[in-house]
Amino acid sequence: IKKIAVLTSGGDAPGMNAAIRAVQRTGMHHGIEVYGVMHGYLGLYQNEIKLLERQDVANMLNRGGTFLGSARFPKFKEETVRQQAVENLRALDIEALVVIGGDGSYMGAKALTEMGFPCIGLPGTIDNDIPGTDYTIGYLTALNTVLEAVDRLRDTSSSHNRISLIEIMGRHCGDLTLAAAVAGGAEYVIIPEKPFDEEALITALGNPSARRKSHAIVCITENMTDTEALAKRIEERTGQEARATILGHIQRGGAPRGFDRVLASQMGVYAVELLMQGHGGRCVGIQSNQLVHHDIIEAITTMQRPFKQDLFNTFKKLV
Ligand code: F6P
Repeated sequence: IKKIAVLTSGGDAPGMNAAIRAVQRTGMHHGIEVYGVMHGYLGLYQNEIKLLERQDVANMLNRGGTFLGSARFPKFKEETVRQQAVENLRALDIEALVVIGGDGSYMGAKALTEMGFPCIGLPGTIDNDIPGTDYTIGYLTALNTVLEAVDRLRDTSSSHNRISLIEIMGRHCGDLTLAAAVAGGAEYVIIPEKPFDEEALITALGNPSARRKSHAIVCITENMTDTEALAKRIEERTGQEARATILGHIQRGGAPRGFDRVLASQMGVYAVELLMQGHGGRCVGIQSNQLVHHDIIEAITTMQRPFKQDLFNTFKKLV
């Protein structure tokens, strides 16, 4: 294999740059040219593909976001659009593609692989919602970012005896919320993997003596409900001031923490080596501290992500 390409797609995540750098450096180490595709699948379709030299990835390890840019590009579901993308790659004699992104990005990689163009997926998302890996690139950095916010909100909500609802990203996955609730000492957690009983929450919040504290932190995953409206209902029903804070895109930015830099570096090296061994249509993960690879099609169609029930039990015992 002489030429490969790399792209980042979907929501950016801290550590994506470290992964791109690892792909470029590993390629260089083995005498493989590495091309960078700008703006994810959109740039692949529009032929925005350029050779990455060593200096292009210098000083990137510690930078948040993705210097290649990312985009959501639903038109990539159309076969003619994908055919154009494959033609653009083949015109440059590129033989394989590393895709760094979430499950939507894996769908594109799966489709290209099925069209005969081998792809390797690296899990890059703060949501930690990809099957076949214990951790995604960016998740633990985002957790630290969320915790900084939770700590600050605790200061002000305890000073004012308020109930603080903190809405945390994750799309439909509660991992970030649950970990933040445990590490941030929240009183309540609302996550998609567990039924949400608003009445029970309001009853519990309305009885501060039972919870032995006058303020409360409630961590809630986005898309569960309208968090602002929930805060208003809680305030009306309990008579205690309640405020909602939607953390939003703050959670996606910032320099990757050490763990994510190491993970991204390991996965980037592994992706290139898998391609060198002739693998395609695989996605990389880390499970029980070991790098692993799975069939990308299985990963997004049949593989399940186990819910972290142990961590949920831990949370329940600590409140
Ligand atoms: O997948 C990452 C993520 O940040 C999710 O947590 C969130 O639901 C979504 O992307 C937000 O997407 P956008 O940046 O397009 O608003």
